[in-house]
Amino acid sequence: MQGVFITGTGTEVGKTFVAVEIARQLTQRKVTVIPKKPIESGCIRQGDELIPQDALALKNAANYSGSLSDVCPYRFEPPISPVRAAHLANKVLTTEQLFSICLQGSEDGFLLIEGAGGFYSPLAENGLNADLAVALQLPVLLVADDKLGSLSQVLLNAEAIQMRGLQIAGVVMNNLNNNNNEHMDNTADLREHLNCDIFCNPYAKNGQPQLPKSLIDALVTPISPTAPNISAVR
Ligand SMILES: Nc1ncnc2c1ncn2[C@@H]1O[C@H](COP(=O)(O)OP(=O)(O)O)[C@@H](O)[C@H]1O
Ligand SMILES: [Mg+2]
Repeated sequence: MQGVFITGTGTEVGKTFVAVEIARQLTQRKVTVIPKKPIESGCIRQGDELIPQDALALKNAANYSGSLSDVCPYRFEPPISPVRAAHLANKVLTTEQLFSICLQGSEDGFLLIEGAGGFYSPLAENGLNADLAVALQLPVLLVADDKLGSLSQVLLNAEAIQMRGLQIAGVVMNNLNNNNNEHMDNTADLREHLNCDIFCNPYAKNGQPQLPKSLIDALVTPISPTAPNISAVR
């Protein structure tokens, strides 16, 4: 199965922003993208329906022919942790349920999954984002807010992904808050400690992301199952 599990160092770090651009660029390359955001809280109520904003953005960017429910069947209104939101709606969701949602219709395409929150944020009654990623056995793309303090966050996440036996597709240092301290260079500092690809997404003044082509190339290059498991964190 080809695809990527997009996670972040936390919430509001740019996972959707990056995922949407990946979906757009893959679609432009004629890759069939199957977007999934299996569970989303903070949905907007429109009449009787809850509209998941992330899932909708992914569906549009991927030009996905399936329904919004195929992308995101589990939707909750309160902008809180998905597990807590599910409880408030008297729902109990398991990792296995989210796993099977992710697999539905994924046979002939590139599965692009956005988790919720960070890698260790609870996602289901019995599991974290990490557990869904492990069930799917997809490479993980880590999106981080490029700011003072992110070095430790990225290294902790990279180690956690590695400890779960998953491949790191790359790290995206996302400058969403337009930090421009000329003396700071998190990407260069991380390269001293990480063996995986590290990409930069600059602040998008006009809302237009500038993800490097090499990131898209890396995502569509299949990882050989016999490739040695390189340690990402030195
Ligand atoms: N590189 C960037 N430049 C400008 N704005 C950004 C950038 N990355 C993200 N944003 C904005 O930051 C906010 C949070 O990003 P989002 O992708 O929704 O985060 P997440 O999915 O991790 O919760 C959104 O309003 C998004 O448009
Ligand atoms: Mg999001």
